[in-house]
Amino acid sequence: MKHFLWLFMLLFVLGLSACTTEETSVQTPIPTQNEEQLIELTLEELSYYDGKDGKPAYIAVQGFIYDVTDSSFWRNGNHNGYAAGQDLTDEIINSSPHGIENISRVPKVGILVTGE
Ligand code: HEM
Repeated sequence: MKHFLWLFMLLFVLGLSACTTEETSVQTPIPTQNEEQLIELTLEELSYYDGKDGKPAYIAVQGFIYDVTDSSFWRNGNHNGYAAGQDLTDEIINSSPHGIENISRVPKVGILVTGE
């Protein structure tokens, strides 16, 4: 009987540790688009991404780079007279009718850095 009790306790502890391991793996965060995955571009490099000739269309707003390639409002990198491939922080805040909130509708892909 004493042996059975020990065996039972051993199985219980093993079972408990198995559960704990499983929970840890479930809690591992699923990789999303976090800060580490953002690309880094200088203003000069950003100018390549103008959305013309099949190139992606990127714009910079308040130090971050956003991808407007798939936006139907930014065909060929053009949007109401504004062109992709540049920093449009001032324009979206001061000249657009919608204001800066609209930037949250497009994916953030990078950080604007100063060239060395
Ligand atoms: C005269 C200037 C502008 C006009 C008339 C204009 C108008 C519009 C309109 C009508 C839309 C779609 C509907 C809406 O959200 O209200 C839109 C979307 C958008 N605009 Fe502008 N806009 C202007 C300037 C700008 C500038 C300078 C930026 C710079 C970043 C910008 C960024 C965006 C973005 C990111 C969207 C969302 C695109 C999407 O949802 O796919 N806009 N704009």
